[in-house]
Amino acid sequence: MSIIFRAAGKALPAQRCTNDDLSKKIDTTDEWIRSHTGIGARYLAEETDTCSDLGAQACRDALKKAGVSASEVNLIICSTATTDYNGFPSNACLMQEAIEAENAACFDLSAACSGFVYGLDCAAGLMARHNWKYALVCGAELLSRITDWTDRSTCVLFGDAAGAVLLENNSEEKARGLGSFILGAQGTGSKYLYNKYGGKLTMDGHAVYDFAVGIMTKIIKDLMEKENLTEHDVDFFVCHQANERILKASAKRLGFKIDKFIFNMEEYGNTSSASIPITLVDMEERGQLKKGMTVVSAAFGGGLTYSGCVFRW
Ligand code: ACO
Repeated sequence: MSIIFRAAGKALPAQRCTNDDLSKKIDTTDEWIRSHTGIGARYLAEETDTCSDLGAQACRDALKKAGVSASEVNLIICSTATTDYNGFPSNACLMQEAIEAENAACFDLSAACSGFVYGLDCAAGLMARHNWKYALVCGAELLSRITDWTDRSTCVLFGDAAGAVLLENNSEEKARGLGSFILGAQGTGSKYLYNKYGGKLTMDGHAVYDFAVGIMTKIIKDLMEKENLTEHDVDFFVCHQANERILKASAKRLGFKIDKFIFNMEEYGNTSSASIPITLVDMEERGQLKKGMTVVSAAFGGGLTYSGCVFRW
């Protein structure tokens, strides 16, 4: 049995905000943001937008591309740090209602930016156990709602977006699908990145940066060892899009060329758990990502959490 990717979808709020737009409101410059992060723009939600709506749009996009009806979906997992409600209903339940996927089990997953890859592994396990055919795994984030717009060292980093993949349990496919996973957490680092009740996102940028480079390097190395892959065997490294410098430093430590690492934070900023699926959508739309290609993914985030996986698209 293989759990394969059938399709990927994305959704963005309408409002695009460039670094120059931000520099009119806070004490920053396009030059600083680009040179420290690689970010050029981000999309920001209007007050009337909801996170579950954005997630539902991304799921609809994936279902439409796959030609699969929402009523065939057995499971919806929504990774998010910005649920519409406090605890319940989950975003996944709201998304189920919006897309009319009445036969799906639904829950939200809280693993910050690592949540999309956590979600893939959870979905694969549940699909195998219940012999379910289809699952939607979505990363949906309205980080602008928890951003401290008076803190220039964090507010320039984040953007709003949702990305979703439709997974299929397919016994015919041998050469495609999900491979090895690594999931983990370092709770001792919870103090470096948090969002207290009623508060705003707070981050020790240097501590998170050090953790990120170390763990991304380790995840990629360990996954490739597990699957017996060389740099040559991997088509792309599709990692969490937090900061261009983190990915470049990780590639350097691994001794890998940078050209297989995908970057899209220039257009979207850091969209937390939405960043990997929206990258997959864009790569497919560009004709860059083709069936059967080998991808290594790695992510890190608040918790501090980390996750990674190897898959054949
Ligand atoms: N514009 C202009 N100047 C700024 C800005 C800004 N937006 N922000 C900070 N500065 C200034 C600081 O005040 C400081 O000035 P000083 O030297 O006069 O005191 C100077 O720039 C350098 O600040 P640093 O914090 O040392 O800058 P650094 O090079 O470390 O970059 C950054 C900061 C980008 C946050 C970096 O630490 C980083 O990327 N950390 C990891 C963050 C991350 O990935 N977070 C996401 C984790 S999980 C998730 O995705 C939700």
